[in-house]
This record gives sequence, structure tokens and C-alpha cells, in this order.
Amino acid sequence: MIKIDILTLFPKMFQGPFAESIVKRAMGKGLITVNLHDLRQWTADKHQTVDDRPFGGGVGMVLMVEPIYKALKELTRHSKTSQQKVILLTPQGKVFNQKIAGNLSKQKHLILICGHYEGVDERIREFLVDEEISIGDYVLTGGELPAMVMTDAITRLLPGVLKKLAATRNESFANPLPVTRHAQTGQLLEYPQYTRPADFQGWKVPAVLLSGDHAKVAAWQAQQALKRTRRRRPDLL
Ligand code: ADE
Repeated sequence: MIKIDILTLFPKMFQGPFAESIVKRAMGKGLITVNLHDLRQWTADKHQTVDDRPFGGGVGMVLMVEPIYKALKELTRHSKTSQQKVILLTPQGKVFNQKIAGNLSKQKHLILICGHYEGVDERIREFLVDEEISIGDYVLTGGELPAMVMTDAITRLLPGVLKKLAATRNESFANPLPVTRHAQTGQLLEYPQYTRPADFQGWKVPAVLLSGDHAKVAAWQAQQALKRTRRRRPDLL
């Protein structure tokens, strides 16, 4: 059971991704609670201002510290200190990967802050946030999509979410196949998979997969995973 509070200026953006498939089911089962909070509810002025011009000049607007401060104060009121992890989504953060997803899935309470505009007041980083995470070396319009990506990656790792845990075992970036014990990173891309029909207009499934010889199949899969990784992502080896 994990609780994720998301602080955003655009809560409606989340409606689609969280209303389908595995994330929806996990919420239905009570394995994850996601609360969306409109940052504007922690503003005091008539225009519900959350951003302002940068001191010292420059282009664009900067997310103000006060609404975030108030939001965090309220969201952490009932929890003991350090029971939650406050994460700012920003292209300046540590790049998200499967290992980080695994670690975060073991937390009880995450608070994700979706950054926006040209940036955030540096005091948010300095005084309010535990971690900064980026989902890749590209710049998005805000932290909403990154928050969805992280929530999705975390959700499927929660115990009881996926029917067969085995399905996550051999996949790309997750636990290693036996053969990867020799690799530096222990990470391989997934081997090729096939399903029926065994022959689609002459496009045939590799014969070994139809052989029924489990040891042979496992050896083939390990070899294919290694070959694929060498070709596509030699940096993982
Ligand atoms: N906000 C804008 N771009 C981002 C990225 N790549 N990762 C996380 N937050 C972001």
C-alpha cells in the first residue's frame, strides 16, 4: 500500500492515464492511493497566483515557494517526520530508471511536485524537496507527464498488482536472466517473444520455441537477450 500525493497546476491531465488498465485496477484494489491536488488551492489572492517574474530579470515565470510550502505542510500534517518522500519533477533531476522505481515502490508516502514555467524558486529545492527526478534528457512543458510515468512504473511493482510476478522477472531492465551474472550491470533487454500462429503467411516462429525442450528454450532465450542487448544497448553490458 502506497500513497502518492501529486501537486499540480493541471489535475485534469491525469484523468486519462489513471482511469485505465493496471493503474486503475491497483487503485480499485486499494494497493495504491493517488491524490491529485491543484496547487492553486494554496494561494491567497483573487487570481490564485502561483508564479512570478524572476528576481534579477530573465525570460519566463518562476513557480513561487509559498503555495508549495503550504501544500506540503498540509499534506504532511498527519504523518510523522520523514515518513514521506518529497520529489520534484524537473529535467535537472537524477534520471529515473527501473532501480529508482523499485526503491520508490517500497515507500509508504510519496509527494510529487510537478514543476512548471521556466523553473521553480530555488528555495523549494533547498528547503522542501528530498529528491529531484527527471524522466529523461529532454524538456517537457511540465512535470505532469513525468509524474504519470513514475506512478505507472511504481504501481506495477507493488505486490499484488500484476497477476503473475513472473511476467516482470525476465523483462528488459528488470531482474537479470541467469546469463547476465557475467554482465557488469546485470541488465539485459528482453528476448524476442512469439504467440500463435506458428506460421503467419510464411513468417515462422523459431523452431526451438515449438520443441517443448525447456532447457533448450531457456538457453535460446538467454542467448537472444544477450545478442539483442549487444546490438541495441551495448552500454548496458
Ligand atoms: N519537467 C520538464 N521536463 C521534465 C523531464 N524530462 N523530467 C521531469 N520533469 C520535467
